[in-house]
Amino acid sequence: MTHTDDTRGYQTGFANEFATEAVAGVLPTGQNSPQRVAKGLYAEQLTGSAFTAPRHRNLRSWLYRIRPAAQHSPFTELAHASFHNRFDEAPATPNQLRWDPLPMPEAPTDFLDGLYTMGGNGGPAEQAGVGIHQYLANRSMEGRYFYDADGELLIVPQQGRLRIRTELGVLDVAPLEIAVVPRGVRFLVELPDGQARGYIAENFGAPLHLPDLGPIGANGLAHPRDFLTPVAAYEDLDGDFALVAKFQGHLWQAAIGHSPLDVVAWQGNYAPYKYDLRRFNTIGSIAVDHPDPSIFTVLTSASDTPGTANMDFVIFPPRWLVAEHTFRPPYFHRNVASEFMGLIDGAYDAKAGGFVPGGSSLHNCMSGHGPDAASFEKASHADTSKPDHITGTMAFMFETRKVIRPSRQALASPALQGDYYECWRGLKKHFDPNAA
Ligand SMILES: [Fe+2]
Repeated sequence: MTHTDDTRGYQTGFANEFATEAVAGVLPTGQNSPQRVAKGLYAEQLTGSAFTAPRHRNLRSWLYRIRPAAQHSPFTELAHASFHNRFDEAPATPNQLRWDPLPMPEAPTDFLDGLYTMGGNGGPAEQAGVGIHQYLANRSMEGRYFYDADGELLIVPQQGRLRIRTELGVLDVAPLEIAVVPRGVRFLVELPDGQARGYIAENFGAPLHLPDLGPIGANGLAHPRDFLTPVAAYEDLDGDFALVAKFQGHLWQAAIGHSPLDVVAWQGNYAPYKYDLRRFNTIGSIAVDHPDPSIFTVLTSASDTPGTANMDFVIFPPRWLVAEHTFRPPYFHRNVASEFMGLIDGAYDAKAGGFVPGGSSLHNCMSGHGPDAASFEKASHADTSKPDHITGTMAFMFETRKVIRPSRQALASPALQGDYYECWRGLKKHFDPNAA
């Protein structure tokens, strides 16, 4: 897999006050909306938080563009067979669920066509919760552009690179990197490798943010400098294009006579970004036991309850395990939170098989889960006087405060493993009241 160590074309930092222009001399000095913008451009503000949000959560950018975003024909509803926010289609289940990778499509399918809803909770109307989707695509988006008014999109590539061309610049993203496209930002996706598969969290709640570090201190987990936001890049294209909006759970399409990716310069802190998961500074126990997996949080979406996230994005990266006389893999547990997991690469240390790259699992509120029988037996007898080096792996979790309700199509999918529960069947009864 490609390691993108090239930061040309990007600005570093998380939600910094960025300023970038593809044509020199466009950005105004000392104000946002001059009477006449340089080079004949229009000024337009794009706001991602309430105007009066606290300063450290206030998000907006000023765009200097060839035409304002208002210029397009009226939208009409656009059907989509597999992408939606209907989280009440099937009873939410306490069963442990696991899926094989969904098959790549055979018919020509772009990123938008290839969106497939696995489940979710909340919704755009209540501005809380998350939609959980996968994408499976085999051709680039051509002649149509997309934006999601319902939530920001956290994109987790699993196979194939993406070139995400947005209003605010271009993100080149490979597996083991993630990209975030903010609510409302228009974009299209090209596939440099011809096909691509991955996962998406459509976050209806507060925008993702770096977690506070508490007693960890100033360093650790994801560092702000490793977040990359594109520099301005624009298309000056006239033609018969389509603008697709996701609005209140439905898709809408409008004719547009020009490329909406026509922002020549912009300044502000509301912008797309990417992050290389290999940069994560993983922290864990150097004595006994495990910290809770919140120690693996990359990004978090706050809810109205302090300390209880709407959604956390958590990763399980390569790491050393050194805790002595400790059961080292993820232990048996039940959580008040609900957990959707995916595997980007390699193997996951709590499962000997069945959870493969491109696959996914769902363990809902208070549903028991943990290592399978083979992993339990192995780890119970491991020599913990020596460290384990877990390499070549990258699993992730979308963890939510609300129960994740699987879609009807996900529950009916041939990829759903009917025998998942059997991975715990082989756990033996070891209890002996007379044992030493
Ligand atoms: Fe779990």
